[in-house]
Amino acid sequence: MMIRELQIIDLDRVYEIEKEAFKNPYEKNMLQFLYDIGTGFLVAEEKKLIVGYIIFSLKEENQGNIISIAVDRKFRNQNVGSALIQMAIDVLKKFDVEKICLEAKSSKHEVINFYKKLGFKKKEILKNYYEDGSDGVSMYLKNRLIKKYPDEYKYDG
Ligand SMILES: CC(C)(COP(=O)(O)OP(=O)(O)OC[C@H]1O[C@@H](n2cnc3c(N)ncnc32)[C@H](O)[C@@H]1OP(=O)(O)O)[C@@H](O)C(=O)NCCC(=O)NCCS
Repeated sequence: MMIRELQIIDLDRVYEIEKEAFKNPYEKNMLQFLYDIGTGFLVAEEKKLIVGYIIFSLKEENQGNIISIAVDRKFRNQNVGSALIQMAIDVLKKFDVEKICLEAKSSKHEVINFYKKLGFKKKEILKNYYEDGSDGVSMYLKNRLIKKYPDEYKYDG
């Protein structure tokens, strides 16, 4: 598996994964917009097939934000998601980020479990956070854990 930056020709495939993964997916032009404005956008590729992606940004000074992550159903539980998060952390580290935040649906226990396993802690419950009225949970990864990953870390296996 290889993790690399998104190229514009990858967008159709990313959109396919997005639609399969979320009830209220981002529209393709939203994904394109995020790419156009220079938001962090990485894809995981397995034998020339894109199997997952992560979108992340610098939210404010010294703070990173995971906007979205999804892995093709057929490739889940094979560490693709973990590798994408770790590479995003690696990129954000270069901007002296001290804290990485994200929001997830409270009901998605497997997703919360996934983030916990990577060192994220729960911060607060966000009532009616999503369009469908469901609650969210905010999570964060702090400095100490961000620095755990060595500078030369590159996922390539
Ligand atoms: C969340 C997601 C990106 C995880 O990707 P992934 O490649 O399957 O994750 P990994 O293989 O790296 O999993 C790492 C850990 O997360 C946990 N995990 C992942 N999927 C899980 C599941 N279905 N049930 C329970 N735990 C799970 C496990 O603890 C796993 O560790 P283990 O392999 O030691 O058991 C993927 O499930 C997905 O695309 N979900 C749909 C989209 C989504 O909800 N994204 C999050 C938006 S906030």
